[in-house]
Amino acid sequence: MKAFSLARDLATEQRAFLRRRRGVWQPHLERVRGFLGDGLRSADPGRPVLVLGAGSGLEVPWRLAPPGTVGWDADPWSRARTWLRHGRWAPWEFQDLTGGLGALSALAWRTARQPFTGQVRTSLASYRRLVGLLGTLQPQAAPLRAWIQQHRPGTILAANVMGQFGVVAQRAVERAFAGYPDGGEDPDGPDALEQAMDAWTARAVRAFLGALLDSGAELWLVHDRGVLFGTTPAELGPLREPWPAQLRAAPLHAGAPLEAMDPLCGVDVLAESRDRGPDRHQRWLWPVAEGQTHVMEALRIPPGSR
Ligand SMILES: C[S@@+](CC[C@H](N)C(=O)[O-])C[C@H]1O[C@@H](n2cnc3c(N)ncnc32)[C@H](O)[C@@H]1O
Repeated sequence: MKAFSLARDLATEQRAFLRRRRGVWQPHLERVRGFLGDGLRSADPGRPVLVLGAGSGLEVPWRLAPPGTVGWDADPWSRARTWLRHGRWAPWEFQDLTGGLGALSALAWRTARQPFTGQVRTSLASYRRLVGLLGTLQPQAAPLRAWIQQHRPGTILAANVMGQFGVVAQRAVERAFAGYPDGGEDPDGPDALEQAMDAWTARAVRAFLGALLDSGAELWLVHDRGVLFGTTPAELGPLREPWPAQLRAAPLHAGAPLEAMDPLCGVDVLAESRDRGPDRHQRWLWPVAEGQTHVMEALRIPPGSR
């Protein structure tokens, strides 16, 4: 069993993402490209521009990006894929945007595995130790903060990356506990690890948002606000808070339950944006795959003081 590698896992994830049937993605792609395109078009070309979660540029209209716009994505193939898609070899950062996945993975590995053999431990104590220690981890988005401090960007786009933090963290822990009896669950508290992981994700999302808000840059944020599972067709009503209040089953399915998951683990981006309320705010549905629809959210937060 190989230890967690952010680069490898993101590359695998991106390959699977790009292999999906994308026919039904067109309305999402038009909206997200339109929104991020507005951000790139209106960016001050005299200040650095940063695109976070740049991926292969499927959602990012790079032709509108001012010269020198920097991409940031920890998938090692993201820059080359962007070049293939857009003919643009952009300056790039490949670091972990949470700044905390390395420590999380190391902790999971240390608690789950024997020091020399790497064999998974079979005692519940190791599992419970991880649950207990997860609370001590405080992701700080340090690489992102350092970059911002050094380059002082005028515009930052977060291109659908925030909702991935929890998924990637989950994979790191699953990899460490692969082979653990009971499929990696504590029979006395099956939710304890999930809760501790959700709390880590919420801290990572807050740290990321905090770094963006403290930058004072104009922010163009796109993220998964929710994920719906199951086959009940859903609709969004007029914009309402909190986001689940905007959701309803389509008319012919009125009253049918909707199963929604929150990839931001309880963090309310509006509440986090302090006194810098967005001047653009929209949500739409993106049917990503059969039985999986994402509630997308896009917010433009005007520049503020650093
Ligand atoms: C849903 S994809 C976004 C696709 C992208 N906006 C595009 O236009 O192709 C999320 C991207 O975020 C990257 N990512 C996820 N977690 C990350 C992290 N902790 N640090 C850096 N990049 C990350 C992934 O590699 C992936 O390319």
